[in-house]
Amino acid sequence: MDFKKVFGEKIELINEQLIDSITDIENDRLREAMIHYPKAGGKRLRPIITMLVADSISRSGSAALPFGIALELVHNFTLVHDDVMDKDETRRGIQTVHSKYGVSEAILAGDALFAKAFELIGDMDLDGDRKSDLTSLLARSVILLAEGQQMDMDFETEESVSAEEYMKMIERKTAVLYSAAAQGGAISAGAPEPLQETMFEFGRVMGLGFQIWDDVLDLRADEKLLGKPVGSDIRNGKKTLIIILALEDLKDENRTRFLQLLGKSDATDSEVEEAVGILDSAGSIDRAQRIASELIAKAKVLLDDLPEGDSRQRLIELTDFMIKRDM
Ligand code: IPE
Ligand code: IPE
Ligand code: MG
Ligand code: MG
Ligand code: MG
Repeated sequence: MDFKKVFGEKIELINEQLIDSITDIENDRLREAMIHYPKAGGKRLRPIITMLVADSISRSGSAALPFGIALELVHNFTLVHDDVMDKDETRRGIQTVHSKYGVSEAILAGDALFAKAFELIGDMDLDGDRKSDLTSLLARSVILLAEGQQMDMDFETEESVSAEEYMKMIERKTAVLYSAAAQGGAISAGAPEPLQETMFEFGRVMGLGFQIWDDVLDLRADEKLLGKPVGSDIRNGKKTLIIILALEDLKDENRTRFLQLLGKSDATDSEVEEAVGILDSAGSIDRAQRIASELIAKAKVLLDDLPEGDSRQRLIELTDFMIKRDM
């Protein structure tokens, strides 16, 4: 699928409202720090999902869009703070917010983006019950996301993390926003509760596949296309599924060498390549990719509960794209 071609129109609509939502900030430095990532692009996957689900259920994608924008604002807020935590210097092909504007500015920009999201939901043209459900869904998601991000940080210094613990961590740090995107689309569209729950589960399973693929990209993407640094997970000693699976199998010199490289914050590009070579030879990148494919297949089955039509078809294609993308 040609992502930009299929979703270009939706992305433009999203960008317009997204940028517009930030223009009322008076303080120049704060506004610039807030708008830095939104202006730099990004795939806009979460609002696209919200719109497609709402369109599929009751052709109400436009009415659901402000909730999608709210999610994109929250997503951008978490990226600003994530880049501080992960000590990354580039994102979406430009300097990260904290490295351009400073850590204090990054904290404040994140805070304000987060609050903006709730303002947008309050202003939605929906009945009070739906707005209240959307507000609770987003609040719950961000609490879980913070828990997931804390687990991700804790795991950096833990010697042994299991695949189950990893799955729980990515469910919280990443999949929750996809659950919120799909369920939020269903809530806005007035879907019955069982369908809302199926959409939540669709987002969860797809989000797990998405994050495993993000971890693969961290190892072997083209940095120019990816827009963020390759090898960051190795340098930070992240316990990704790929690394957990490798550590179950690696022995002798390979294990010793890999453990020397994992978490080496000043590892050179060639040392990162060496680490990726070891992961490759252990077969753990392939194994993680297979697990991601199974999750994506499972997510697509859940879409059977949506009415047949173009929007559902686009959602199926988007779900496949999660593990085909190189950005
Ligand atoms: C990146 O998300 C952060 C993760 C949850 C891995 P995206 O890959 O959706 O980032 P953008 O929005 O397209 O930049
Ligand atoms: C991101 O995980 C999760 C959140 C931002 C909540 P990563 O740390 O892997 O995301 P990238 O790779 O920096 O985008
Ligand atoms: Mg991170
Ligand atoms: Mg990161
Ligand atoms: Mg990553």
